[in-house]
Amino acid sequence: MKRRDLLVSMAAALGTGALGGIGLAATGNQLLQKRAVNTPISHNLKIQTASYLLREKLTHGLISLSPDGPPPVLYGQQGRRMHLNVTNSLDEYTTIHWHGIRLPNEMDGVPYLTQLPLAQGDSFQYKFTPPDAGTHWYHPHCMTMTQIARGLTGVMVIKEAIDPGFDGDQVINLRDFKLDKSDALRTPYTLRGAARSGTHGNVMTANWRRAPVYDHPTGGLVRLRLVNTDTTRIYKVYLSNATGKIIAWDGHPIAQSVPMPDEKQLLVLGPGQRVDIALEMPPSEGQTISIFARKSGSDRVMASLRAKGPTLKRSLAELKPLSPNPVSLPNLKQAQIHEFIFGWSPDGLAPNNGFCGSLGKTFWSINRKPWPGDDAKGTGPLATLEFGKSYILRLRNESPNLHPIHLHGLAFRPLRSNKRKIATNWTDTMLLLKDEIIDVALVADNRGDWAFHCHVIEHQKTGLAGFIRVA
Ligand code: C2O
Ligand code: CU
Ligand code: CU
Repeated sequence: MKRRDLLVSMAAALGTGALGGIGLAATGNQLLQKRAVNTPISHNLKIQTASYLLREKLTHGLISLSPDGPPPVLYGQQGRRMHLNVTNSLDEYTTIHWHGIRLPNEMDGVPYLTQLPLAQGDSFQYKFTPPDAGTHWYHPHCMTMTQIARGLTGVMVIKEAIDPGFDGDQVINLRDFKLDKSDALRTPYTLRGAARSGTHGNVMTANWRRAPVYDHPTGGLVRLRLVNTDTTRIYKVYLSNATGKIIAWDGHPIAQSVPMPDEKQLLVLGPGQRVDIALEMPPSEGQTISIFARKSGSDRVMASLRAKGPTLKRSLAELKPLSPNPVSLPNLKQAQIHEFIFGWSPDGLAPNNGFCGSLGKTFWSINRKPWPGDDAKGTGPLATLEFGKSYILRLRNESPNLHPIHLHGLAFRPLRSNKRKIATNWTDTMLLLKDEIIDVALVADNRGDWAFHCHVIEHQKTGLAGFIRVA
């Protein structure tokens, strides 16, 4: 008997007493569910330096939530409160942002815009109830260029209110580190990179490991969650030997199908993006499915899933589609259009240098205005949207470089591109190609000042940032 069933039968045997004297009419099961929803899931998270074997020698000076491992996957549940008690033990400022979660603005973790940066020893309790099930992630939003590069990126899984029935769940956090010959961390950014497509790391990892192998039941159904948390790299991935289908994109169940990637048609994930793939594990024990990433023409295995144990003989056909998240559909007929130009602006003002780090230069801008640095003071919103109304945001890339454009606090739906066919799946991060213009639509149904920036962190930190106000 599972613990949960045991509790239910205990509650039934004891009447209402065991559950605190709530009405007799409800069944034990309902009561338990109610109680579960009301009890917050809480996590104590201490930001600290860490050491880890990323390659051959121990790398020191990483940043994580434990001294000797990568930031853990944090689990929450759709519709259930979460309390994330963050303490900063670093001797520099930080904040934590919950990427993809539609939450109250004051819990969004953006320095100066929504909260003050946390100094050494400071704590902050992030409290919210995630409305959307799916694959999201967390990272600092202060000193980002160095803290993200040093490892502080973790995946946050918000489970569906109704279990979709997989036999396994596998999170793969894709990211690079920039190491020297003795496996010490190197300065992660360069001005040259910041002014172009960003500075890439040289050690590509999955969950901080090189080509890890994970066991899952033979013939079972596994939910693979691929997350690109890198500062810079646009991961181009495909799977070998895989029977599977894409079920969610950037944290939301897909509305329009996306083809499974293969060697010819790669899946392109910009920094901040994630994809969920339902996989049938191979039919015989020991067989593997590998996840490959392409890097300048050569393919490398990032991670593998290995079949283990007697076969479960499950099939993808057994899966019911995930139920959509409660995102409001924009009314396109009434939607007002706002245009945002992402471009180069080499002669912008030198950025202000506050507590959250700066590369000391401005290269990029939104609507020709580079974001001046930390403090939002004196910098108005790029647009003010009226609460509850529908809008089209026209995202225009006026540069040859790619930009994963991310908006906090809201989900949006791509409508069209001037360059290619795009799927209209909900997202919070839209990868813009060279000279691409993409229209996206949303309902401005979450009040606050929402950060809006490129997720190539060197671009963000040299001007390609701003915020949108919903009031
Ligand atoms: Cu993933 Cu403003 O962040
Ligand atoms: Cu975000
Ligand atoms: Cu960019």
